[in-house]
Amino acid sequence: MEVDKLLPEVENVLREAGAKMLSMVRPKVYTKEGHANYVTEGDLAIQTLVMERLARILPGSLFYAEEKEENTLTDEPTWIIDPIDGTANFIRGCEHSCISAALAQNRETVMGLIYNPYRHTMYTAIKGQGAWRDGERITVSSCPFDRALVRFGSSPYQPRLAHATVAALEEFLHSCGDVRRLGSAALDLCAIAEGSNDIFFEYRLSPWDYAAGMLLVTEAGGICTSTDGSPLEISHPMGVLAASPACYEGALAICRKHLEDVE
Ligand code: IPD
Ligand code: CA
Repeated sequence: MEVDKLLPEVENVLREAGAKMLSMVRPKVYTKEGHANYVTEGDLAIQTLVMERLARILPGSLFYAEEKEENTLTDEPTWIIDPIDGTANFIRGCEHSCISAALAQNRETVMGLIYNPYRHTMYTAIKGQGAWRDGERITVSSCPFDRALVRFGSSPYQPRLAHATVAALEEFLHSCGDVRRLGSAALDLCAIAEGSNDIFFEYRLSPWDYAAGMLLVTEAGGICTSTDGSPLEISHPMGVLAASPACYEGALAICRKHLEDVE
């Protein structure tokens, strides 16, 4: 399958989904399982739209998506979709959310797209070919570890990870430039890929949060693993660490050390 030929059509699907996101103000909100976990009518409507359009682009492909029941990953071509990453921001009108779509084959991401409709910014990556923002090549930064800007996620649906997250953050604050928490893991990974930030970590994410972003980071010359340094898999939830080569080892040492607080 020549995935690069599919890219323009998939970009159009994400733009259409982004327009829908912007049109939905004050969406209906429903509660999900877990601490402070919500879904809105926007997440459901966008997922339906994206799945319907992508099934037409690649007939027979399967879906692994945040608001879908029963997700299992096989070797078959599978779209991994987060219809709205940054749902809490979307609910509160914070204007920092996106749509993330990845195509996996043999359980590996081969194409990844993340669209930020508030900024009309499209991030794309194709395995072995590179990463782009609005068609321009992007690369990770060369900023040294002691000046790094560190993005993090607080694993909000897993309160047991709070202590380790805060302990790691304190150490990052002492060792690096500064820290930031914006509320969309997919857009955090875009920031690492484009080099506007240098390190991202979150002790637990789901595959739809990072399947596209991990490819963006690696195709932009960065490193993306689990928070213990093992290879990142897209078949089940994991901790995620993404960084430029200049910052990865220092970041891994901190993430690993505080993982001990969890186990
Ligand atoms: C969440 C966001 C958030 C991260 C959470 C994710 P959602 O995704 O990416 O930044 O901290 O762990 O679950 O629920 O908005 O799709
Ligand atoms: Ca998400």
